[in-house]
Amino acid sequence: MQDLVTSSIPDSLDAFWMPFTANRQFKSQPRLMASAKGMYYTTVDDRQVLDGTAGLWCVNAGHCREKIIAAIQTQAATLDFAPTFQMGHPAPFALADRLAKMLPGDLNHVFFANSGSEAVDSALKIALAYHRVRGEGSRTRLIGRERGYHGVGFGGISVGGIAPNRKSFGSLLPGVDHLPHTHNLERNAFTRGQPQWGAHLADELERLVTLHDASTIAAVIVEPVAGSTGVLVPPQGYLERLRSICDRHGILLIFDEVITGFGRLGKGFATDYFGVIPDLMTVAKGITNAAVPMGAVFVRDGIYDAFMHGAENAIELSHGYTYSGHPLACAAAQATLDIYEEEGLFDRANSLSSYWEDAVHSLEGLPHVIDIRNLGLVAGIELESIPNQVGSRAYDCLVRCFENGLLVRTAGDIIALSPPLIIEKQHIDQIVEMLGLVLKDLA
Ligand SMILES: Cc1ncc(COP(=O)(O)O)c(C=O)c1O
Repeated sequence: MQDLVTSSIPDSLDAFWMPFTANRQFKSQPRLMASAKGMYYTTVDDRQVLDGTAGLWCVNAGHCREKIIAAIQTQAATLDFAPTFQMGHPAPFALADRLAKMLPGDLNHVFFANSGSEAVDSALKIALAYHRVRGEGSRTRLIGRERGYHGVGFGGISVGGIAPNRKSFGSLLPGVDHLPHTHNLERNAFTRGQPQWGAHLADELERLVTLHDASTIAAVIVEPVAGSTGVLVPPQGYLERLRSICDRHGILLIFDEVITGFGRLGKGFATDYFGVIPDLMTVAKGITNAAVPMGAVFVRDGIYDAFMHGAENAIELSHGYTYSGHPLACAAAQATLDIYEEEGLFDRANSLSSYWEDAVHSLEGLPHVIDIRNLGLVAGIELESIPNQVGSRAYDCLVRCFENGLLVRTAGDIIALSPPLIIEKQHIDQIVEMLGLVLKDLA
């Protein structure tokens, strides 16, 4: 019989079609993790790798936390699964209530999904259906942003702004338009925190309103800080302007907080950090510390209430997933929220953020580094691309960091860092030292 937990090198790597990976390259030179604890992975060849990216922006409380493990084990032995379609079990009700209390304003309702992608597609569908139930069914247009990442569902890639994620998949959702991204190296390179230049880019939404007419636009979706395209921090005043333009025209504002949620910026959520409250908000990743997949959409009272009309025996929103509010995910989320609270991890991220900022900006001046940007416990280090080989320099950096015992993430030629919030100053020093050594040596 096969071992239940596989931690040695498998006989063959062929069958698993890896996501977002150069499969042939990886399989010829694999990087396999066998176990993890706290700030570190251990590889199958028994090397320690410092986790500079919280896995994939998700293990905010550090790896293999006992409390989360125990919660999942107990839940699995008590109630493995119960439907949430026309049935229920207590866990998602209790979790939704707890989450709603953490959120500002009247973001008081929670729709559960199993990933960021599902949360995004759920949010877009709720936005469209909301306008329809209110009798404004002409509002069908969705606005995203260039360099936005909203997962890989058809909704998410349609509003997303990354060409390789879109180009192979046909015509996508009709009627989608995009705001320009806010990244500008000429104006904002090496800014610490939010750049001063660029708030006016939000006014492009007015241009789209003039072009399409507000009566056709349902919602705008943005990541408050764009993560996956290389840590793009919003200019000062930008999100505020988007909010006021949306208000002026009855357009819903959706924040995709799949990365920024659960402490990444040193507050519970980016909405707290920036003081801008969206109408809908998507989360995933840190909600369960990534121990069990889960995503969620937070919805304002007025939106939820708009659906709660008509015949009481009619399903108000024909949407949902078999595993919406899965018992194991709810248990993992409750234990994760306990840890965030007990250890004050959001405040911890906040109090470490200036040390983090100084540390990452100390890499300025190293070969190929053309920008460094940061906010909370996240940073992007942009390298000059080798002509006609975009991404290869950063990939080389990733491989060498891994060989030297550091996990980083890349987007094109940008190195992205987003460590677990349990990080100590000594780990920050190690990250910067290891990365600096690799950068000094990079072709
Ligand atoms: C902002 C944002 N939205 C959505 C997603 C998709 O999440 P998932 O990979 O869980 O589907 C991601 C993933 O990185 C993300 O960063």
